[in-house]
Amino acid sequence: MSKTYPIAVIGGDGTGPEVVAEGIKVLEVVADKFDLKFDWHYFDFGGERYLKTGEVLPDSAIDELSKFKAIYLGAIGHPDVKPGILEKGILLRLRFALEQYINLRPIKLYPGVESPLRDKGPEDIDFVVVRENNEGLYLGAGGIFKKGTAQEVAIQESINTRFGVERCLRYAFEYTRKRNKKKMLTLCGKTNVLTFAFGLWERAFHEIGAKDYDDIMRDYAHVDATCMWMVKNPEYFDVIVTDNMFGDIITDLGAMIQGGMGIAAGGNINPEGTSMFEPIGGSAPKYTGQGKINPLAAISAGQMMLEFLGEEAAAELLEEAVMKACRELKSLSAGKMGYTTSEVGDLVAGYVAE
Ligand code: IPM
Ligand code: MN
Repeated sequence: MSKTYPIAVIGGDGTGPEVVAEGIKVLEVVADKFDLKFDWHYFDFGGERYLKTGEVLPDSAIDELSKFKAIYLGAIGHPDVKPGILEKGILLRLRFALEQYINLRPIKLYPGVESPLRDKGPEDIDFVVVRENNEGLYLGAGGIFKKGTAQEVAIQESINTRFGVERCLRYAFEYTRKRNKKKMLTLCGKTNVLTFAFGLWERAFHEIGAKDYDDIMRDYAHVDATCMWMVKNPEYFDVIVTDNMFGDIITDLGAMIQGGMGIAAGGNINPEGTSMFEPIGGSAPKYTGQGKINPLAAISAGQMMLEFLGEEAAAELLEEAVMKACRELKSLSAGKMGYTTSEVGDLVAGYVAE
């Protein structure tokens, strides 16, 4: 009997639903091949629903979504909704409420994909960023005082708990071990200035590493130097672990060196609970409904979802299919692929079926 996975689907805004539809198309072919079954449950959270009903994400939705092992997300962000409302109300709320404390971002340049790094190829760009996803500046601690006056004060504090930092570090160490490449974990921080926050990170890093992961090399780089190395020497890295804010920034840089938002996928992981997989590119509203957007990032998010579900062989086959498709596309950028959105989905589905 085939194994059934109930999956929550939030297509979201702009081009989100289009790319998720291609991901589902491809995952259905994967399912046939591996005798799996996906049971898709669709939810309409996003800008349109908010504009119609004033509701962003009801509490009942969190309860309902928490019953799934995985959520497949398109994109959140609507041009008619003030920035922050949907991002905080849906994306960040789900990350926090479902305790998706890891944001996992593989940065891998596939053969045939053009990187803006002129002299770097697929053998040079292959590392993973483990971003803390539940704490730091994103918690929203602080406040604004005397708003709109000449004496206005704005405070935004970074919260780092030993518990939160430790579980993130442990995940990163485990991941580095399982990945089994260079077996090097780089802590990316700013210990020369943010001595409180990254003092905690650094102490925990070495304590945990020395005690439980002596097979993993411990490495450290300041965040500014990390950006420099990612461009100059990306082959240096194996796995990078960092806080929420730095992780947000360096993973966009990472997306660019791997060929852009057309291919960049991420997972919001709660190893014991409900995880959420998404293309990281955003809703790209100006391309909505035009068939121009690249679905490969969403398809790769589907691959990460398979991995999370423990379907590693299926994930591997899907990655190979994406790599083959990459060789066919003229460019990964929207409107320049030489194919429509659904043709790219068909292409990948075809390679999976082969
Ligand atoms: C990301 C995004 C989000 C973040 C935004 C949309 C809130 O940039 O997933 O990296 O900052 O985490
Ligand atoms: Mn980001």
